[in-house]
Amino acid sequence: MKIIRYISLVILSALILCTAGTVQAKTVVAIAHTHEESHPDHQGFLAFKDYVEKKAGDRYEVQIYANNASGSNEDVIDLIKSGTIQFMAISTANLEPHNKKYAVFSLPYLFSSEEIYEKFITDPAIIEELAEENDKDGFTPLAAFTAGTRSFYAKTPIKSVKDLEGKRFRIQSGKTNKDLMYYFGANDITISFGEVYKALKNNIVDGAENNELALVDQKHGEFCKYYTYDRHQMCPDMLVGSSLFLYSIPEEDFDMFKKAAIEAQKVEFGRWKKSIEDAKKKAKEMGVTFIDVDVHEFQEKVKPIYEDVLKNNPQIKSLYEKARAFDKKYAK
Ligand code: GCU
Repeated sequence: MKIIRYISLVILSALILCTAGTVQAKTVVAIAHTHEESHPDHQGFLAFKDYVEKKAGDRYEVQIYANNASGSNEDVIDLIKSGTIQFMAISTANLEPHNKKYAVFSLPYLFSSEEIYEKFITDPAIIEELAEENDKDGFTPLAAFTAGTRSFYAKTPIKSVKDLEGKRFRIQSGKTNKDLMYYFGANDITISFGEVYKALKNNIVDGAENNELALVDQKHGEFCKYYTYDRHQMCPDMLVGSSLFLYSIPEEDFDMFKKAAIEAQKVEFGRWKKSIEDAKKKAKEMGVTFIDVDVHEFQEKVKPIYEDVLKNNPQIKSLYEKARAFDKKYAK
């Protein structure tokens, strides 16, 4: 991280020189995400803004760009790397192309309950391990937001794993998600989150997979009337900061942003369950049927993925083993 800190200090010193003799302006901190303002991630970021502006409102102004206003996740992560945007929430699936460690969260059925997954992603040691190469990555994970459990939803009912065959599903980025669809026997196409509505509308895909919020917030329930609880994946949205930005500011400020991220996480987690309940209710009003299936059957089908991914992506080994140990320790 030394090189980044050095470059950043040079940039910062230049800025201070430029403003010498004038009134020092506030640093504008931009946050981007792809969700609606009612989404728990946005509520979390409001708490982040509140924390920072209460502590250092004379020096920082936080601006939040919701709803893809700054571009897709795939574009914004590049803006984070270049320091143009300072913070974002981004699914670990979208981080896999930048650092293969994040692929661990794309593995199916990694945790036997949401409670264990939540314990894992809020463990500071896990965040630290993900942050190990943050100079090379260009982004630094500060906290994780839960994104619940992902299941399939489609225009026709999926009642067993066989019903996935021959159907085409939209998936998030990353090779692991592609492998997962291969083991499920489904066809896949990687599409950016904000484009999924159009893809469903134009019959480019037969369905997608996500938590229940996507049915309502993203209006996918207009086209997909069947949501199947196969519960194949739990992958968080990471709250990441631009490494270039974080290493250009005084260490106490970096620390303040870390604390703000934890405040955001608390609020996000606090909102999650209720927003899922509300989304389910609204989805039912839209005509969506929720189907319970034999999860075991889905789990068995994709079992060979572990050996395959661990062989081809040894970078996940350490986190994978920790996740398994967590599961063993806390599973009932
Ligand atoms: C979830 C997640 C988003 C992600 C999206 C997706 O909604 O919270 O961060 O982008 O899934 O499927 O792309």
